[in-house]
Amino acid sequence: MRDFLTLAAFEPEEIRELVVLAGRLEREPEPRALAGKILTLLFLNPSLRTLASSQAAMARLGGSSYVISPGQGTWQLETRPGAVMDGAAAEHIREAIPVLAGFGDALGVRSFARGVDLAAEVADAEFLSMAALSPKPVINLESAIAHPCQGLADWKTLDDLGIPARGGKLVLTWANHPKPLPLAVPATVVQMAAARGMEVAVLRPSAYALPAAVMARARAAADRSGGSVAETDDGAEALRGAHVVYAKSWASPIFYGEEGGGAEAALRAALGHWCVEEAWFRMAAPGARFMHCLPVRRNVVVRDQVLDGPRSAVVLQAHNRLPAMMAVLHRLLRREETR
Ligand code: CP
Repeated sequence: MRDFLTLAAFEPEEIRELVVLAGRLEREPEPRALAGKILTLLFLNPSLRTLASSQAAMARLGGSSYVISPGQGTWQLETRPGAVMDGAAAEHIREAIPVLAGFGDALGVRSFARGVDLAAEVADAEFLSMAALSPKPVINLESAIAHPCQGLADWKTLDDLGIPARGGKLVLTWANHPKPLPLAVPATVVQMAAARGMEVAVLRPSAYALPAAVMARARAAADRSGGSVAETDDGAEALRGAHVVYAKSWASPIFYGEEGGGAEAALRAALGHWCVEEAWFRMAAPGARFMHCLPVRRNVVVRDQVLDGPRSAVVLQAHNRLPAMMAVLHRLLRREETR
């Protein structure tokens, strides 16, 4: 494994092996496995779980890490190709990434979608260009279209909860939010669950249908693993027999590039009822669980009753970010001779 950029780059069996490694490292700590190794973390956007789990994972494996948050004690960074740099940014990532990569053994980067060019962002063009600048392994800490560390942790969470892979049904539901959000998490969840071999239903208003390329990648994974992927705006149809309801808000591909504009905002304003509540689980499987990657807006995305009740797996999901990141780092950085 050279990099960890997207779950779509791996066969389902390879992801399963990483999940198994995560479980092993959780049960059997290896506090010297990455002694002397350094992880550079470049966060172009805020984080709680990804930042904390990356640093904690490196420390628990005996390595160290440092964080660069441009503009907070370091130069502001320009990321746009061909930019005329006469604004606030004094340095371009074309120099910053190879410089930072040279200080460590692996580079983690978070760089969200701009919400401007749907085709380029679904292809993750800017992030892949950034990754190509690094001579060291790159870990995607959430790009425009992929959040593979979250996906790995979610797969482990499903295993921990005893949700069956074959025969298990996961509903990824769109939910309301005050602003349009990137596609990285929904694209990763549908990919992860399809690769795990689950029956996946994407429940969304028709204007929020996931891009065709995202669904095609997930269907290809489902074909290899024996799962299936469908999408609908019919809640009763989607939720019937669900073992997991995974909520996430995302931007409408139809209005991509016009975010903040009147039409998209008006559409979202009319969809306030897309907030997960206990009644959603009436037709679900007994003991069905609720998942969300966090951070979550209470009583906008999901009601307190669900989030605070026994269905909620959100804290377990967040905790699984640690062993998932340990597995990624172990696979990328552990030398053969130290095994
Ligand atoms: N789920 C997740 O990636 O959380 P953060 O944005 O806090 O890192």
